[in-house]
Amino acid sequence: MSFVVKLPTVEDTQEFGRRLAGLLRAGDLVLLTGPLGAGKTALTQGVGAGLHVLGDVTSPTFVIARVHRPDPARGGRVALVHADAYRLGAASDPRAEIDDLDLDASVDESVTVVEWGEGLVEQLVDAHLRVRIDRRDDDTRIVELDPVGGDWARRLAELS
Ligand SMILES: Nc1ncnc2c1ncn2[C@@H]1O[C@H](COP(=O)(O)OP(=O)(O)OP(=O)(O)O)[C@@H](O)[C@H]1O
Ligand SMILES: [Mg+2]
Repeated sequence: MSFVVKLPTVEDTQEFGRRLAGLLRAGDLVLLTGPLGAGKTALTQGVGAGLHVLGDVTSPTFVIARVHRPDPARGGRVALVHADAYRLGAASDPRAEIDDLDLDASVDESVTVVEWGEGLVEQLVDAHLRVRIDRRDDDTRIVELDPVGGDWARRLAELS
């Protein structure tokens, strides 16, 4: 069973990320899919806001993974690791490049959100949440959440 939501504006997408953050805990992996400009980073900004982490969540030009530490002063308790594997698409061995990021070293104690990571990062943990964002002609986004293993299906039910 998947969960589908319509998000008319970028603010709605960020707000949805904030709601999603309420379900997230250390050890979680969220895989974001969807075309260029779909809103993957916008959604991650909302997740970062909801987790009360430090530093702006952006689409870095050179950095492929960034760690946002929690801000305890605002109630942050878990770090957000935001990775964007888009540029690895051109690498001869993208999986080796992913290994070099050492995401497995941080995955247990962080929330890990990965853009363009399909086929590359699923093996980091035994369950993950897949989030597919699609863009309609009127600029609204349709977001589909698919629980893959673990207790994700039960946790998603808390969103509705
Ligand atoms: N409903 C919406 N939800 C999200 N973004 C929207 C929406 N409407 C317009 N936008 C715009 O679309 C763009 C989404 O960009 P964003 O960087 O989040 O996409 P992305 O999926 O991360 O792209 P990339 O694959 O290049 O990393 C932003 O400029 C945002 O303002
Ligand atoms: Mg992005």
